[in-house]
Amino acid sequence: MAKLAINGGPKAVNEQLGKAMYSEWPEIGQEEKDALMKVLESRKWWRGGYTEENLEDSYVVKFENAFAEYQGAEYAVACTNGTQAIELALKAVGIQPGDEVIVPCSTFVATATACILVNAIPIVVDIEPESYQIDPDAIEAAISPRTTGILPVHNGGFPADMDRIMEIAEKHGLFVVEDSAHAHGTLYKGKGCGTIGDFGTFSLQMGKTLTCGEGGIVLTNDEELAAKAYSFHHIGRFAGRPFYEFHLVASNLRMPEFQGAISYCQTMRLPEQTERRDKNALYFEDGLREIPGMAPLERGDRCTRWGFYYYMFKFISEEFEGLSREKFFEAMAAEGVGLGQGHIHPIQQNPLFTKRNFGPVCWPEGIEPPDYAKVETPVAQRVMAEEVCTLGHHAFADHDTRSMDLILGAIRKIRENVGELL
Ligand SMILES: Cc1ncc(COP(=O)(O)O)c(C=O)c1O
Repeated sequence: MAKLAINGGPKAVNEQLGKAMYSEWPEIGQEEKDALMKVLESRKWWRGGYTEENLEDSYVVKFENAFAEYQGAEYAVACTNGTQAIELALKAVGIQPGDEVIVPCSTFVATATACILVNAIPIVVDIEPESYQIDPDAIEAAISPRTTGILPVHNGGFPADMDRIMEIAEKHGLFVVEDSAHAHGTLYKGKGCGTIGDFGTFSLQMGKTLTCGEGGIVLTNDEELAAKAYSFHHIGRFAGRPFYEFHLVASNLRMPEFQGAISYCQTMRLPEQTERRDKNALYFEDGLREIPGMAPLERGDRCTRWGFYYYMFKFISEEFEGLSREKFFEAMAAEGVGLGQGHIHPIQQNPLFTKRNFGPVCWPEGIEPPDYAKVETPVAQRVMAEEVCTLGHHAFADHDTRSMDLILGAIRKIRENVGELL
């Protein structure tokens, strides 16, 4: 008689994982309803409806202050989305046409396209095999006379090696913008992701752990950079100057008050939600360590709190009797646990890059982007094809460890009966 569900045996998991949140995500309550009604009835639906005297009544400002405090930054500017948050940060640090910005290959495409949208050239590099984050050695190897910045991503919310990245940046006089779209609540050695480089940028898109449907925010500890980001998101106005006085060529990237109201209320919920997910993740990691062929990303002293958008762990085929990850995924799905792999291939393999289909960019004459079709990132290619496993943040949302036990139980069942799959 087959034991594994893929072969007709009974399923290990017959219920919704992360029940506490899955069907009711995002968590909402009276606070969100009251805040939305307050905005509606105030008839001030944008931050411009507030003056110096009553600025603290703006929900966008309340959100900026609350999120900056939670993540541990001095200044924040809320904006339209996570892609434009990166563009905003790059403009504020003074990006120039043709500047090279080093980005990891293991990320969402927006990390690199945001560079192109401000006429910079993304230089795509490989990741570390252990952490799946941008490899500092690869950053150093990619530095050229045209490099002006590093754009690390805390992929899956796990922190990049910020000590080494900041060291390299200092040595070569580069700016650092941390794409923290996945890392709300993550602490790197006790410091909030997005507060270590010149800027941290966040997405509040619907899938994220902090969401208002669509939105973004940039954080910084530098007053001058904060003022520039404010201006670049506000059509080039300077705070405190006349309304029709403009100083920079800039777009309108303002977050509306309705989005501010939701973002603020959700930020109030975020600390408890992050602790809940991280507690479950730590329990899950202990379980993974006991199963041959499975391993967590080891946090060491680097990740002191993991605020993840998707949770990443490792499938090691050689220690799993040579089973392929694809077969493991199929068997897990049959047991009732859907696993993913995060980004399916390194970003430079998208047609956008291989065909250099960049539209109207303005690079100085003679400056060409690399031939992305030839950019090899062997670590990421192997990890993405064979090793990484992901679970959405919802699975970690319960107030108890039941979902963790169910997932671990399904993995153990497959491990114990792997012979049925070989
Ligand atoms: C790493 C990363 N950077 C940037 C973004 C862009 O954010 P948005 O979708 O809010 O524009 C995303 C979106 O998922 C992302 O995953």
